[in-house]
Amino acid sequence: MRPFVDRHIGTDAAAQERMLSAVGFDSLEALMDAAVPAGIRSAGTGIGEAATETQALAELRALASRNRVRHSAIGLGYAGTVTPAPIKRLILENPSWYTAYTPYQPEISQGRLEALINFQTMVADLAGLDIANASMLDEGTAVVEAMLLARRASKSASSVFVVDTDLLPQSRALLRHRAHRTGIELVELPLATTDPADLPDSFGVVAQLPGASGLVWDARGIFAASAAMGGVPVAAADLLALALIEAPGHQGARIVVGSSQRFGVPMGFGGPHAGFMAVAEQLTRQMPGRLVGVSVDAEGYPAYRLTLQTREQHIRREKATSNICTAQVLLAVMASMYGVYHGPDGITAIAEGVHAVATRFARAAREAGIELVHERFFDTVRMRVPGRARELQSSAADAGILVHVVDDDTLHVAFDETWAELGTGVRLDALLPALGLADAGPADAGTGDRAIPATLARESEFMTHEVFHAHRSETRLMRYAKRLSDRDYALDRGMIPLGSCTMKLNAAAEMEAITWPEFSQPHPYGPLEDAEGSLALIDQLGEWLARITGYDTVSLQPNSGAQGELAGLMAIRGWHDSRDDGHRDVVLIPASAHGTNAASAVLAGMRVVVVATRGNGDVDVDDLEAKIGTHAGQLAALMITYPSTHGVYESEIRRITDLVHEAGGQVYIDGANLNALLGHATFGDMGGDVSHLNLHKTFCIPHGGGGPGVGPVAAKAHLAPFLPRDPREEWQEIDGVRIGANPISAAPWGSASILPISWAYVRMMGLEGLTKATASAVLAANYIATRLREHYPVLYTGEHGLVAHECILDLRPLKEATGVTNDDVAKRLVDFGFHAPTMSFPVAGTLMVEPTESEDLAELDRFVDAMIAIKAEADAIGRGEVPLDESALRRAPHTPGSIVHGEWDRPYSREQAVFPVPGIERAKYWPPVARVDQAYGDRNIVCSCPPVEAFA
Ligand SMILES: Cc1ncc(COP(=O)(O)O)c(C=O)c1O
Repeated sequence: MRPFVDRHIGTDAAAQERMLSAVGFDSLEALMDAAVPAGIRSAGTGIGEAATETQALAELRALASRNRVRHSAIGLGYAGTVTPAPIKRLILENPSWYTAYTPYQPEISQGRLEALINFQTMVADLAGLDIANASMLDEGTAVVEAMLLARRASKSASSVFVVDTDLLPQSRALLRHRAHRTGIELVELPLATTDPADLPDSFGVVAQLPGASGLVWDARGIFAASAAMGGVPVAAADLLALALIEAPGHQGARIVVGSSQRFGVPMGFGGPHAGFMAVAEQLTRQMPGRLVGVSVDAEGYPAYRLTLQTREQHIRREKATSNICTAQVLLAVMASMYGVYHGPDGITAIAEGVHAVATRFARAAREAGIELVHERFFDTVRMRVPGRARELQSSAADAGILVHVVDDDTLHVAFDETWAELGTGVRLDALLPALGLADAGPADAGTGDRAIPATLARESEFMTHEVFHAHRSETRLMRYAKRLSDRDYALDRGMIPLGSCTMKLNAAAEMEAITWPEFSQPHPYGPLEDAEGSLALIDQLGEWLARITGYDTVSLQPNSGAQGELAGLMAIRGWHDSRDDGHRDVVLIPASAHGTNAASAVLAGMRVVVVATRGNGDVDVDDLEAKIGTHAGQLAALMITYPSTHGVYESEIRRITDLVHEAGGQVYIDGANLNALLGHATFGDMGGDVSHLNLHKTFCIPHGGGGPGVGPVAAKAHLAPFLPRDPREEWQEIDGVRIGANPISAAPWGSASILPISWAYVRMMGLEGLTKATASAVLAANYIATRLREHYPVLYTGEHGLVAHECILDLRPLKEATGVTNDDVAKRLVDFGFHAPTMSFPVAGTLMVEPTESEDLAELDRFVDAMIAIKAEADAIGRGEVPLDESALRRAPHTPGSIVHGEWDRPYSREQAVFPVPGIERAKYWPPVARVDQAYGDRNIVCSCPPVEAFA
């Protein structure tokens, strides 16, 4: 087979020659020499030669074989699950789902928006609350966000948040790491046994339902006591248990968070999985994360869209209350399809099956005279085995089953769907003798052995919507998944030229290993000796990333770029503290920065001071100096993006980083644009102290329709002690779980199961391939800028008139002359078979185009031709030949219905509407809805599945 690099890079030598000559250079090297300022050129090292696809997969196989797959009964928020084969094949392994972008353009995202509203409906129903979002990064971070939401919403003046000692250990660790930075005091109490009258004055409580220990308990008293003092009660809940246990919302919780992992998403050594958050209606506008709602399109039909976006960090910036941007969309879609496939009765049957195994095991333990820590449980049986816990753990491990040791005298066994699937007795056959127990037969489900008290039995209905009843055969599910993905535009249809998003190829070979059981099955808190292969892969990838960014250390824990930012800023704060400089809390952030920068700073408890940008898009160094002067003693850091969010290599970067260091500050370089640097310059050499990288951009993890992501944080050695620590190096122990210091995600290595994607990319490209990919991406952006410049001004360029890996097209003059907006252009591009570029970021009224290295010349030209044709349509409006409101631009995008139904009375033909350029008939993408009314959806908030009749 051809070398992988030639399959990853879309343009071949002949095409590049043509493009170079259009841009005015005779080689890629000459182009990069001109584009990248000489003062920052430096190649990374230590990656080595590229491996072939076959070699890379063989190496991955060898790594996988160093993992030992034993059956986890550890529980603690991660459970075995059966991914229905059609969901694996139709969703997880299907590029129509995994290569889609976040559904900001609703007209081309109706499929994933529907799948997400199903997720929201399912979660809200099970939680017993009004509304749920889609989605959170994991359960631990969702608990932290719930705490912050509780504080915003609470009527109490207290700064105390009460935390259940039976909360998952990793959630407790995250709360401890995060609370003090935002001035919150945590009080940990065993809530199940706390008299509600003794609840301290507080703005909220968080209880685990069922507890990490397995305990099923009635939280009504505690939640009522919290609410009575103006607090906001929060439940962290297990979705599957909620099929049998009264919904936390009905017990008085106003926020319910958790993980949907056990709805068909493998544990994956920690992730990715979709966390969730459901809230009472009054909290809707304050809820973090993305929310899908229902609106109408231009023809009056219902259409889905992201609703209440003004809540989101990218709009609110330093006023943001959450930094979540990339979430876990693909995993939320999988979980929602699991709900669609099983329906409420199927989910209940699975929960009953799990409970039956647990009660059978409990009966055997009791018969052997073992004391159970709780008699009330759903799936986790905790036992007192004085002095024998570790010995029993190792005997179970020898039988292939991993149980959790809390301390020398206590262990627990957590059961899941996979046990029930085998038949309740089957795997118990191995476990019981290993623990010295004998099977005492199935529990008596009718009465005595049921471990969920009747007073807590679920009575309310859930998942009553038709969608959870209509697709129960595999044929129906297959067609449903296909119908939804057919409505969407993903990379499998054409280019997604979204600036700042790097929608490059996600190669099939890179994806290959993520579903191998050795990588997808391990529990994140299982024995490290079972994960030798994963840990070797993690170490090697971390080392490569450090080398090519010029840093000393990398933590792969953050589950998104924004979490990487937060981890980096927390590290900066920790470092200042360690030098008795804890008062330094000001972060300088250029006006052009991505919204998450400011939002992460706020979550790290820092003060944001905005630095102006110059007319050419560069940081205004005079303003920077002035702001440094004003805040000298308090300066903690500068956050800067390189190349800038304006798509330009600023030549003054070294001066900027020097100025900050001289004033005692640290330099955070946002690495989201690394695709413009890799192999040509490093952040470390530029003066960066810390950066996050977006593996879901530069390193080929697919965007998944809005996640998963991995946002490693890379830093110089002095910050290493303050980054999320590897639990092999420095840990704290909570209830038998070893958690690395400074945690930022629930799992020690974050979304570990998708790291083989980036590993394979680097391995198959080698340093030379990565270096070429960067230059090819820069060439593609400059080619587009060159060809489009005479039609649309290119807003910013660096020296020699060049852009970096993306270019901003200024549509404001066009709007002035014709009234045509960038929205009109973006929607008309759909008729031409394109996803719109990034709209109005970082400059309102512009489109930011990032073609990446993976597109071929024909696709680049197709895009350029579409933009030129659109300009001609706009010019006709400008000349008064076509009224704007009746133009193809304003009426775009055109659905099949819009050209067929009724009389055709528009000033352009049906052909021009839907086949605006020759040849498009053969590969036409038909948007399922016309332009979506954004304002209507925010005025009329509906965020759960609408009745089927709405679509009649
Ligand atoms: C420049 C920049 N910084 C940070 C982020 C945040 O990354 P994530 O969406 O993974 O949280 C983005 C995401 O689009 C970005 O473009």
